[in-house]
Amino acid sequence: MSDLLVRWAGRDRVRRAAVSNPAVRDLVARYVAGERLDDVLPVLHSLVDKGLLVSVEYLGLPVAALADARTNQAGYLDLIARLVDEDLAGVSEVSIRLSLLGLDLGRDGEAFALEAARRITRAASNAGALATLDMDGIETTDATLGAWTELIQDLPRTGITVQAELHRTERGLANLAMPGVRVRLVKGAFQESRAQAFRNGHEIDLAYVRCLRRLMNSQAVPLVATHDPRLVAIAEELVRRSGRASDSYEFQMLYGVRPLELRRLADIGHQARSYVPFGPGWYDYYLRGLVERPANVALFLRSLLGKR
Ligand code: FDA
Repeated sequence: MSDLLVRWAGRDRVRRAAVSNPAVRDLVARYVAGERLDDVLPVLHSLVDKGLLVSVEYLGLPVAALADARTNQAGYLDLIARLVDEDLAGVSEVSIRLSLLGLDLGRDGEAFALEAARRITRAASNAGALATLDMDGIETTDATLGAWTELIQDLPRTGITVQAELHRTERGLANLAMPGVRVRLVKGAFQESRAQAFRNGHEIDLAYVRCLRRLMNSQAVPLVATHDPRLVAIAEELVRRSGRASDSYEFQMLYGVRPLELRRLADIGHQARSYVPFGPGWYDYYLRGLVERPANVALFLRSLLGKR
Protein backbone atom coordinates (compact mmCIF):
# COMPACT_ATOMS: atom_id res chain seq x y z
CA MET A 1 0.00 0.00 0.00
CA SER A 2 2.71 2.46 0.99
CA ASP A 3 4.56 1.52 -2.24
CA LEU A 4 1.54 2.64 -4.27
CA LEU A 5 1.23 5.91 -2.37
CA VAL A 6 4.91 6.60 -2.74
CA ARG A 7 4.69 5.94 -6.50
CA TRP A 8 1.75 8.36 -6.66
CA ALA A 9 3.75 10.93 -4.68
CA GLY A 10 6.56 10.59 -7.23
CA ARG A 11 4.34 11.64 -10.17
CA ASP A 12 5.25 14.99 -11.71
CA ARG A 13 2.06 16.79 -10.74
CA VAL A 14 2.13 15.62 -7.10
CA ARG A 15 5.88 16.24 -6.91
CA ARG A 16 5.44 19.86 -8.08
CA ALA A 17 2.71 20.44 -5.52
CA ALA A 18 4.70 18.74 -2.75
CA VAL A 19 8.06 20.46 -3.23
CA SER A 20 6.45 23.90 -3.12
CA ASN A 21 4.24 23.07 -0.13
CA PRO A 22 5.62 24.66 3.09
CA ALA A 23 4.02 21.99 5.30
CA VAL A 24 5.77 19.21 3.36
CA ARG A 25 9.05 21.14 3.52
CA ASP A 26 8.64 21.52 7.28
CA LEU A 27 8.06 17.80 7.66
CA VAL A 28 11.06 16.85 5.55
CA ALA A 29 13.29 19.39 7.34
CA ARG A 30 13.41 17.05 10.32
CA TYR A 31 15.43 14.52 8.27
CA VAL A 32 16.97 16.57 5.44
CA ALA A 33 19.10 19.67 5.99
CA GLY A 34 17.75 21.58 3.00
CA GLU A 35 18.46 21.93 -0.66
CA ARG A 36 21.50 24.20 -0.88
CA LEU A 37 24.93 24.43 0.73
CA ASP A 38 23.78 27.53 2.58
CA ASP A 39 21.07 25.40 4.20
CA VAL A 40 23.26 22.51 5.33
CA LEU A 41 26.24 24.44 6.71
CA PRO A 42 24.45 25.94 9.75
CA VAL A 43 23.07 22.47 10.53
CA LEU A 44 26.58 20.99 10.43
CA HIS A 45 27.94 23.75 12.68
CA SER A 46 25.21 23.20 15.23
CA LEU A 47 25.82 19.42 15.32
CA VAL A 48 29.57 19.91 15.68
CA ASP A 49 28.99 22.44 18.48
CA LYS A 50 27.16 19.65 20.32
CA GLY A 51 30.23 17.41 20.18
CA LEU A 52 29.21 15.33 17.17
CA LEU A 53 31.08 14.41 14.00
CA VAL A 54 29.17 14.68 10.73
CA SER A 55 28.78 12.72 7.53
CA VAL A 56 27.28 14.67 4.63
CA GLU A 57 25.25 12.93 1.97
CA TYR A 58 24.85 15.05 -1.14
CA LEU A 59 21.42 14.30 -2.61
CA GLY A 60 22.03 14.93 -6.29
CA LEU A 61 19.41 14.74 -9.01
CA PRO A 62 18.59 11.39 -10.67
CA VAL A 63 21.09 10.41 -13.36
CA ALA A 64 19.79 9.66 -16.87
CA ALA A 65 22.95 10.62 -18.77
CA LEU A 66 26.63 11.31 -18.11
CA ALA A 67 25.92 15.04 -18.07
CA ASP A 68 23.78 14.52 -14.94
CA ALA A 69 26.60 12.54 -13.30
CA ARG A 70 28.99 15.44 -14.09
CA THR A 71 26.60 17.89 -12.46
CA ASN A 72 26.43 15.72 -9.34
CA GLN A 73 30.22 15.37 -9.28
CA ALA A 74 30.43 19.17 -9.22
CA GLY A 75 27.93 19.16 -6.32
CA TYR A 76 30.22 16.92 -4.25
CA LEU A 77 33.30 19.00 -5.07
CA ASP A 78 31.52 22.26 -4.16
CA LEU A 79 30.51 20.66 -0.88
CA ILE A 80 34.12 19.78 -0.03
CA ALA A 81 35.31 23.30 -0.91
CA ARG A 82 32.71 24.81 1.44
CA LEU A 83 33.62 22.37 4.24
CA VAL A 84 37.16 23.72 3.96
CA ASP A 85 36.01 27.37 3.94
CA GLU A 86 33.88 26.74 7.02
CA ASP A 87 36.63 24.87 8.87
CA LEU A 88 34.45 21.76 9.01
CA ALA A 89 36.53 19.37 6.89
CA GLY A 90 38.40 17.82 9.84
CA VAL A 91 35.15 16.65 11.48
CA SER A 92 33.40 15.61 8.27
CA GLU A 93 32.94 12.50 6.22
CA VAL A 94 31.53 12.81 2.70
CA SER A 95 29.17 9.98 1.82
CA ILE A 96 29.32 9.12 -1.86
CA ARG A 97 26.56 7.31 -3.76
CA LEU A 98 28.01 5.91 -6.98
CA SER A 99 24.60 5.78 -8.68
CA LEU A 100 24.62 9.60 -8.58
CA LEU A 101 27.91 9.51 -10.46
CA GLY A 102 26.67 7.30 -13.30
CA LEU A 103 27.23 3.76 -11.98
CA ASP A 104 23.94 2.56 -13.54
CA LEU A 105 24.72 3.90 -17.03
CA GLY A 106 26.50 0.83 -18.43
CA ARG A 107 30.22 0.48 -18.96
CA ASP A 108 30.95 4.17 -19.67
CA GLY A 109 28.92 5.13 -16.63
CA GLU A 110 30.83 2.72 -14.41
CA ALA A 111 34.17 4.09 -15.64
CA PHE A 112 32.98 7.66 -15.10
CA ALA A 113 31.67 6.86 -11.61
CA LEU A 114 35.02 5.39 -10.58
CA GLU A 115 36.99 8.39 -11.86
CA ALA A 116 34.54 10.84 -10.29
CA ALA A 117 34.68 8.98 -6.96
CA ARG A 118 38.48 9.08 -7.17
CA ARG A 119 38.42 12.84 -7.71
CA ILE A 120 35.98 13.34 -4.83
CA THR A 121 37.83 11.09 -2.36
CA ARG A 122 41.13 12.77 -3.26
CA ALA A 123 39.61 16.21 -2.78
CA ALA A 124 38.18 15.08 0.56
CA SER A 125 41.51 13.62 1.66
CA ASN A 126 43.43 16.76 0.62
CA ALA A 127 40.94 18.77 2.65
CA GLY A 128 41.41 16.56 5.73
CA ALA A 129 37.94 15.01 5.43
CA LEU A 130 36.97 11.34 5.20
CA ALA A 131 34.96 9.71 2.43
CA THR A 132 32.77 6.62 2.53
CA LEU A 133 30.83 4.89 -0.24
CA ASP A 134 27.11 4.29 0.32
CA MET A 135 25.63 1.01 -0.90
CA ASP A 136 22.59 0.76 -3.18
CA GLY A 137 20.59 -2.36 -4.17
CA ILE A 138 22.17 -5.75 -4.80
CA GLU A 139 22.43 -5.24 -8.56
CA THR A 140 25.18 -2.69 -7.83
CA THR A 141 26.97 -4.44 -4.96
CA ASP A 142 29.76 -5.99 -7.04
CA ALA A 143 30.40 -2.79 -8.99
CA THR A 144 30.48 -0.72 -5.79
CA LEU A 145 32.86 -3.13 -4.04
CA GLY A 146 35.01 -3.20 -7.20
CA ALA A 147 35.23 0.60 -7.27
CA TRP A 148 36.01 0.72 -3.55
CA THR A 149 38.83 -1.85 -3.98
CA GLU A 150 40.36 0.47 -6.61
CA LEU A 151 39.93 3.56 -4.44
CA ILE A 152 41.60 2.13 -1.35
CA GLN A 153 44.80 1.36 -3.31
CA ASP A 154 45.37 5.07 -3.34
CA LEU A 155 43.33 6.26 -0.33
CA PRO A 156 43.15 3.42 2.22
CA ARG A 157 40.88 5.33 4.60
CA THR A 158 38.01 5.38 2.09
CA GLY A 159 35.10 3.69 3.83
CA ILE A 160 32.58 1.18 2.49
CA THR A 161 29.00 0.46 3.55
CA VAL A 162 27.90 -3.17 3.93
CA GLN A 163 24.37 -4.44 4.48
CA ALA A 164 23.82 -7.09 7.17
CA GLU A 165 20.62 -8.22 5.42
CA LEU A 166 22.60 -9.73 2.51
CA HIS A 167 23.73 -13.35 2.92
CA ARG A 168 27.01 -12.52 1.21
CA THR A 169 28.02 -9.79 3.68
CA GLU A 170 29.11 -11.95 6.61
CA ARG A 171 31.30 -14.13 4.36
CA GLY A 172 32.71 -11.09 2.59
CA LEU A 173 33.87 -9.41 5.79
CA ALA A 174 36.82 -11.78 5.94
CA ASN A 175 38.23 -9.95 2.90
CA LEU A 176 36.97 -6.47 3.70
CA ALA A 177 37.92 -6.05 7.33
CA MET A 178 41.57 -5.16 6.77
CA PRO A 179 43.61 -3.15 9.29
CA GLY A 180 42.51 0.49 9.44
CA VAL A 181 39.77 0.09 6.84
CA ARG A 182 36.50 1.91 7.66
CA VAL A 183 33.52 -0.42 7.32
CA ARG A 184 30.04 1.01 7.88
CA LEU A 185 27.62 -1.71 8.93
CA VAL A 186 23.92 -1.05 8.23
CA LYS A 187 20.90 -3.36 8.27
CA GLY A 188 20.15 -2.54 4.61
CA ALA A 189 17.40 -0.39 3.14
CA PHE A 190 16.50 -2.52 0.12
CA GLN A 191 14.06 -5.43 0.01
CA GLU A 192 16.11 -8.07 -1.78
CA SER A 193 15.00 -11.59 -2.75
CA ARG A 194 14.97 -14.38 -0.19
CA ALA A 195 17.71 -16.17 -2.13
CA GLN A 196 20.05 -13.25 -1.53
CA ALA A 197 18.93 -11.67 1.71
CA PHE A 198 17.27 -12.19 5.06
CA ARG A 199 13.76 -10.77 4.97
CA ASN A 200 12.73 -11.26 8.56
CA GLY A 201 13.64 -8.50 11.03
CA HIS A 202 14.90 -10.91 13.68
CA GLU A 203 17.16 -12.72 11.20
CA ILE A 204 18.54 -9.39 10.01
CA ASP A 205 19.28 -8.37 13.61
CA LEU A 206 21.10 -11.65 14.25
CA ALA A 207 23.11 -11.22 11.06
CA TYR A 208 23.94 -7.66 12.15
CA VAL A 209 25.31 -8.93 15.48
CA ARG A 210 27.40 -11.63 13.77
CA CYS A 211 28.89 -9.05 11.38
CA LEU A 212 29.47 -6.61 14.22
CA ARG A 213 31.37 -9.24 16.22
CA ARG A 214 33.59 -9.98 13.24
CA LEU A 215 34.31 -6.31 12.72
CA MET A 216 35.01 -5.64 16.39
CA ASN A 217 37.39 -8.62 16.48
CA SER A 218 39.21 -7.41 13.37
CA GLN A 219 41.61 -4.52 12.96
CA ALA A 220 39.14 -2.65 10.77
CA VAL A 221 37.38 0.51 11.99
CA PRO A 222 33.71 -0.46 12.50
CA LEU A 223 31.19 2.30 11.80
CA VAL A 224 28.13 1.10 13.71
CA ALA A 225 25.27 2.65 11.72
CA THR A 226 21.99 1.78 13.41
CA HIS A 227 19.33 3.37 15.61
CA ASP A 228 18.23 0.04 17.03
CA PRO A 229 18.62 0.35 20.83
CA ARG A 230 19.48 -3.34 21.29
CA LEU A 231 22.17 -3.27 18.62
CA VAL A 232 23.65 -0.07 20.03
CA ALA A 233 23.82 -1.71 23.49
CA ILE A 234 25.50 -4.81 22.03
CA ALA A 235 28.00 -2.63 20.18
CA GLU A 236 28.81 -0.74 23.38
CA GLU A 237 29.41 -4.03 25.17
CA LEU A 238 31.63 -5.36 22.36
CA VAL A 239 33.65 -2.14 22.42
CA ARG A 240 34.08 -2.48 26.17
CA ARG A 241 35.17 -6.12 25.94
CA SER A 242 37.56 -5.53 23.05
CA GLY A 243 39.22 -2.61 24.84
CA ARG A 244 39.22 -0.66 21.57
CA ALA A 245 40.60 2.87 21.62
CA SER A 246 37.84 5.45 21.21
CA ASP A 247 39.18 6.57 17.82
CA SER A 248 38.99 3.02 16.37
CA TYR A 249 35.20 2.80 15.87
CA GLU A 250 32.21 5.11 15.47
CA PHE A 251 28.49 5.20 16.00
CA GLN A 252 26.55 6.75 13.13
CA MET A 253 22.88 7.73 12.95
CA LEU A 254 20.71 9.51 10.39
CA TYR A 255 20.06 13.20 11.03
CA GLY A 256 16.75 13.59 12.86
CA VAL A 257 16.52 9.97 14.05
CA ARG A 258 17.19 9.42 17.80
CA PRO A 259 19.32 12.60 18.08
CA LEU A 260 19.42 12.43 21.88
CA GLU A 261 20.80 8.91 21.79
CA LEU A 262 23.60 10.02 19.45
CA ARG A 263 24.38 12.89 21.84
CA ARG A 264 24.43 10.46 24.77
CA LEU A 265 26.98 8.28 22.96
CA ALA A 266 29.17 11.33 22.27
CA ASP A 267 28.83 12.56 25.85
CA ILE A 268 30.18 9.30 27.28
CA GLY A 269 33.24 9.39 25.06
CA HIS A 270 32.36 7.50 21.88
CA GLN A 271 32.88 8.99 18.44
CA ALA A 272 29.35 9.71 17.25
CA ARG A 273 28.56 10.93 13.75
CA SER A 274 25.33 12.39 12.42
CA TYR A 275 24.62 11.49 8.79
CA VAL A 276 23.18 14.62 7.22
CA PRO A 277 21.52 14.53 3.79
CA PHE A 278 20.98 17.71 1.77
CA GLY A 279 20.66 18.67 -1.86
CA PRO A 280 18.33 19.10 -4.80
CA GLY A 281 17.26 15.44 -4.69
CA TRP A 282 15.70 15.83 -1.19
CA TYR A 283 12.17 14.91 -2.26
CA ASP A 284 13.18 11.51 -3.70
CA TYR A 285 15.27 10.80 -0.61
CA TYR A 286 12.25 11.45 1.57
CA LEU A 287 10.04 9.23 -0.60
CA ARG A 288 12.59 6.38 -0.40
CA GLY A 289 12.41 6.68 3.39
CA LEU A 290 8.61 6.44 3.25
CA VAL A 291 8.78 3.05 1.54
CA GLU A 292 10.78 1.81 4.52
CA ARG A 293 8.67 3.59 7.16
CA PRO A 294 5.00 3.36 6.14
CA ALA A 295 4.03 4.88 9.50
CA ASN A 296 5.23 8.25 8.16
CA VAL A 297 3.00 8.07 5.07
CA ALA A 298 -0.04 9.39 6.96
CA LEU A 299 1.98 12.36 8.24
CA PHE A 300 3.17 13.10 4.70
CA LEU A 301 -0.38 12.96 3.30
CA ARG A 302 -1.72 15.20 6.04
CA SER A 303 0.97 17.80 5.28
CA LEU A 304 0.43 17.57 1.53
CA LEU A 305 -3.33 17.89 1.81
CA GLY A 306 -3.12 20.68 4.36
CA LYS A 307 -4.65 18.75 7.30
CA ARG A 308 -2.33 19.46 10.23
P1 FDA B 1 15.42 -0.27 12.58
O1 FDA B 1 14.91 -0.10 11.19
O2 FDA B 1 14.97 -1.46 13.35
O3 FDA B 1 15.14 1.05 13.38
C1 FDA B 1 15.29 1.14 14.79
C2 FDA B 1 14.47 2.34 15.26
O4 FDA B 1 15.06 3.55 14.76
C3 FDA B 1 13.04 2.36 14.68
O5 FDA B 1 12.15 1.69 15.51
C4 FDA B 1 12.74 3.84 14.59
O6 FDA B 1 12.33 4.31 15.85
C5 FDA B 1 14.08 4.46 14.28
N1 FDA B 1 14.31 4.71 12.85
C6 FDA B 1 15.18 4.05 12.06
N2 FDA B 1 15.22 4.61 10.82
C7 FDA B 1 14.34 5.64 10.83
C8 FDA B 1 13.93 6.60 9.87
N3 FDA B 1 14.43 6.63 8.62
N4 FDA B 1 12.99 7.53 10.24
C9 FDA B 1 12.48 7.53 11.49
N5 FDA B 1 12.84 6.64 12.45
C10 FDA B 1 13.74 5.71 12.14
N6 FDA B 1 21.18 1.55 3.96
C11 FDA B 1 21.63 1.05 2.78
O7 FDA B 1 21.06 0.10 2.26
N7 FDA B 1 22.74 1.62 2.17
C12 FDA B 1 23.42 2.65 2.75
O8 FDA B 1 24.41 3.13 2.17
C13 FDA B 1 22.99 3.14 4.01
N8 FDA B 1 23.66 4.15 4.65
C14 FDA B 1 23.32 4.45 5.95
C15 FDA B 1 24.13 5.30 6.71
C16 FDA B 1 23.83 5.55 8.04
C17 FDA B 1 24.73 6.43 8.84
C18 FDA B 1 22.69 4.94 8.65
C19 FDA B 1 22.36 5.16 10.09
C20 FDA B 1 21.88 4.12 7.90
C21 FDA B 1 22.17 3.87 6.55
N9 FDA B 1 21.36 3.03 5.79
C22 FDA B 1 21.83 2.57 4.58
C23 FDA B 1 19.99 2.66 6.26
C24 FDA B 1 19.96 1.33 7.00
O9 FDA B 1 20.19 0.26 6.11
C25 FDA B 1 18.61 1.11 7.66
O10 FDA B 1 17.62 1.05 6.68
C26 FDA B 1 18.22 2.18 8.67
O11 FDA B 1 19.34 2.58 9.42
C27 FDA B 1 17.18 1.63 9.66
O12 FDA B 1 17.69 0.52 10.34
P2 FDA B 1 18.10 0.52 11.90
O13 FDA B 1 19.36 -0.25 12.02
O14 FDA B 1 18.10 1.87 12.44
O15 FDA B 1 17.00 -0.39 12.59
